[in-house]
Amino acid sequence: MQQLKDKVAVITGGNSGIGKATARLFAREGAQVVITGRRQEILDQALEEIGRGAVGIAGDVADIDHHRALAKMLKEQFGGLDIYMANAGIIKIAPSDRISPEDYDRHFNTNTRGVFFGVQTIKPLLRDGGSIIVTSSLAATKVLPDHTVYAASKAAVAAFAKNWAIEFKAQNIRVNILSPGPVETAILEKLGISEADRPAFEAQMASQIPAGRLGQPDELARAALFLASDAGSFVNGVELQVDGGMSLV
Ligand SMILES: NC(=O)c1ccc[n+]([C@@H]2O[C@H](COP(=O)([O-])OP(=O)(O)OC[C@H]3O[C@@H](n4cnc5c(N)ncnc54)[C@H](OP(=O)(O)O)[C@@H]3O)[C@@H](O)[C@H]2O)c1
Repeated sequence: MQQLKDKVAVITGGNSGIGKATARLFAREGAQVVITGRRQEILDQALEEIGRGAVGIAGDVADIDHHRALAKMLKEQFGGLDIYMANAGIIKIAPSDRISPEDYDRHFNTNTRGVFFGVQTIKPLLRDGGSIIVTSSLAATKVLPDHTVYAASKAAVAAFAKNWAIEFKAQNIRVNILSPGPVETAILEKLGISEADRPAFEAQMASQIPAGRLGQPDELARAALFLASDAGSFVNGVELQVDGGMSLV
């Protein structure tokens, strides 16, 4: 049986990595999927891959008008939504003295403000019994070298989620946190590590993970499905670490 039959699911940052894998799985499980991302061309490619009537809207999560446009589309095309995964995010790994004010603002505008105003804007359209998932990071709870600003931007969204779990209880809306450890996605390319240095970088990371490897986007997608579906019907306000055990060491 399809676990998300007749549900409408929105995934921000659904044109790449964890978001795209989740969109693909949710669509296979019967959901009407709506994805976002800034790059129209990559969004279009992702929609083709996902298939099953998935639709997308391009925009920047830091821009409140983008959330308003998404809400308008959801209202007009689907009458509302059941699942919202606030997943779009960026990272720059650098010591604090190499973080510019622009880097700082980019992290908090995308990773934090984007989540807050995304949820604030779509909340009136979220149907009773709905599910919100925010993608945080292992870095929010475990100190990793040179992750200071990124970690703080992700710790904030975990705090939002726990507060919303209580705030939204009258509507029976569950709010949970998906907290990935290192996962093989395009975000690794965006760190600025050269092709040549990438194997050494990944091997070094893998050596710190009890599983002995990085995670795959599909493994995060399956955890998101658990949180979004009736399989997780009594799970609310948790931080689900999907990190191959890295939080333990
Ligand atoms: N991969 C990991 O190791 C890891 C670990 C812990 C947490 N995470 C978190 O997991 C989430 C997904 O990351 P990923 O690994 O799947 O990376 P990814 O492949 O780079 O995907 C990031 C997504 O966010 C979108 N995005 C970035 N900035 C945006 C903005 N301002 N407005 C709208 N969309 C934006 C990107 O699309 P556009 O570029 O087209 O906008 C893309 O779809 C992020 O929140 C990340 O912090 C990842």
